[in-house]
Amino acid sequence: MSEIKSVAITGASGNLGPHVLKALIDANFQVTVLTRSRKPGAYDASIRVVEVDFTSVESLTAALNGIDGPVSTLGPAVTESQTVLIDAAIAAGVKRFIPSDYGSCSTNPKLKDHPIYAQMFTVRQYLQDKAKAGNLAWTVLVCGAFLEFLLDMPMMLDFENHKATLYDEGDNRISSTSLSNVGNAIVAILKNFEATKNKIVHTSQVILTQNKLLRIAERLRPDIKWETSKVQTSAILKEGLDGVTAGDFSMPVIFKILKGTAFAGDVYGSAYDETDNDLLGVKELTEKDLESLVAGKLT
Ligand SMILES: NC(=O)c1ccc[n+]([C@@H]2O[C@H](COP(=O)([O-])OP(=O)(O)OC[C@H]3O[C@@H](n4cnc5c(N)ncnc54)[C@H](OP(=O)(O)O)[C@@H]3O)[C@@H](O)[C@H]2O)c1
Repeated sequence: MSEIKSVAITGASGNLGPHVLKALIDANFQVTVLTRSRKPGAYDASIRVVEVDFTSVESLTAALNGIDGPVSTLGPAVTESQTVLIDAAIAAGVKRFIPSDYGSCSTNPKLKDHPIYAQMFTVRQYLQDKAKAGNLAWTVLVCGAFLEFLLDMPMMLDFENHKATLYDEGDNRISSTSLSNVGNAIVAILKNFEATKNKIVHTSQVILTQNKLLRIAERLRPDIKWETSKVQTSAILKEGLDGVTAGDFSMPVIFKILKGTAFAGDVYGSAYDETDNDLLGVKELTEKDLESLVAGKLT
């Protein structure tokens, strides 16, 4: 039996948040949405929505009163601000905290001091210290890249223009999970209270490579000719890091760091063969499932 009944979600209006919110509601948790500002019509009238100040422990503590498990899906821009949310969670006496992390390689020790990833390490360390002191328990979910991001955006293959910029040789592996299954995995974490306590758990529906996707696309539509080029992930990463060192934190620079790490395959451990899928109830994609997804992208 789950010890968690009431759940608060932060970041429910973002890319991931709506999918997690849906999974929590479908699983019959009592759900409260914590938001910077309530937008009319954004949530079903039956959902409790509380406006909070994410910089204020007092504001967040009041909102978390009576909540068993806060789930954070806050955006990457405010990763580090989660320490305030954690302080509030402790003050409100919550049982389990799930931080916004949800990466592929974000827990790899090699990235401890990298821009973007360093903040996630800070939050995880903060949680571990608080848990050691007996203040609360946590679970971090590693889910790989969001499947929709990989297939809907020109990240691995540009399905619209039939172009592929291959990272290194195109064989770099990356684990991936759909947004709805990230939501389902979070529900399973909350329901498997003891088995997921103070742990980093892994889920992945499929391990992709660009060449694997390209081969499926070519098999399904031999009439389409793909234009390919190559780029070294180490070079992209260096460009991104040089940009940040020069004080440029723009999105293109941040994306270079993300691509140079998440798409570098085993260099930063973006693919993992061992998962907690059974515990989390996440089903892996079959070759046929993957073929159908690729077929849906080919026009
Ligand atoms: N594995 C992957 O492929 C992948 C891809 C993208 C993201 N992620 C991870 O998934 C998590 C969620 O990312 P996301 O893309 O869904 O986030 P997002 O859309 O950028 O933001 C989520 C929400 O954070 C809330 N927020 C609170 N304070 C904020 C502030 N000062 N500035 C901006 N937003 C603020 C907003 O909700 P309110 O306005 O309602 O408060 C916003 O809608 C992150 O941990 C991210 O690193 C993983």
